[in-house]
Order: sequence, then structure tokens, then C-alpha cells
Amino acid sequence: MIEDTAWGCGGKYDDQYLGTIGDLGTFSFDFAKTITTGEGGMVIAKDPLILEAAKAYHDHGHENNPSLPRWEDSRSRSGFNYRMTEMQGAVGLAQLEKLDEIIASHQRNKETIIQKIKESRSENLKNRIITNAGN
Ligand SMILES: Cc1ncc(COP(=O)(O)O)c(C=O)c1O
Repeated sequence: MIEDTAWGCGGKYDDQYLGTIGDLGTFSFDFAKTITTGEGGMVIAKDPLILEAAKAYHDHGHENNPSLPRWEDSRSRSGFNYRMTEMQGAVGLAQLEKLDEIIASHQRNKETIIQKIKESRSENLKNRIITNAGN
């Protein structure tokens, strides 16, 4: 099962990190997401074989065999150029350090929104509050 966690980096459902529930978790790091590298994303997998396949797929099928130069590298599948640049990787590492702070800010915003809805006169909105949908 592929778990689309595009928006949910660092979030949890029933105390389990999003992206770790399925066999494979995908994350988007575009400019609107929880953390960003401008564009790009991340894939995580429990099974090392699936992870190796995903790594090769995003890099023209290269298996990045350390005993071979790049131009003689082994390939058992085709792939695309979905590589993230080193600059984007550096931005991503800096963003990761802020992840807890960003999530805490999202949680504060969620609490504020819920509180404002509770204080509102709209019964329709109040009936739609979901408080146990994860964090
Ligand atoms: C639920 C969901 N999945 C996947 C994507 C695609 O992410 P990306 O544009 O980084 O490929 C998005 C983008 O907004 C999304 O909202």
C-alpha cells in the first residue's frame, strides 16, 4: 500500500507517524507543504528492496553501485530524472530542524480555529468539529 503523505510530514495518526502506516510513504516538499525544498519530495519504505527500486526509478534506473563508475553503473529497470539537487537537499535539512516547531505552530492554529468555531454562532460549523483526527 502506498501512503500519500504529501501534506502530513511529521504528523501522526493514532500515535503512528504518517508515511509509516503503508508499505511506502510519499511526502511532498513543494512550497505549500509542511516543510519545503521549493519542489521535490521524499519516499520512505519498510522493505529495502522497494526502497532500492524507488531510488533507482528516480535516477534513470541507476543502482548506484559503489564499485562501478556512474557511466558503467548497473540497471535492472528504467527510470526518470526526479533527482533533488544538493541545494534543495541542504534546504530540506534546514527545514527538518524546524519541523517540530512548525508542527507545534500548526497545532496551536488548529486549537485556535476550533476555539473560534466553538465561540461562533454557527451550529452547522460546531457540528463539523473533528478533534480526534490525529495530530
Ligand atoms: C494529496 C497530495 N498528493 C500528492 C501531491 C503531489 O505533490 P507534488 O506536487 O510534490 O508531486 C499533492 C500536491 O499538492 C497532494 O496534495
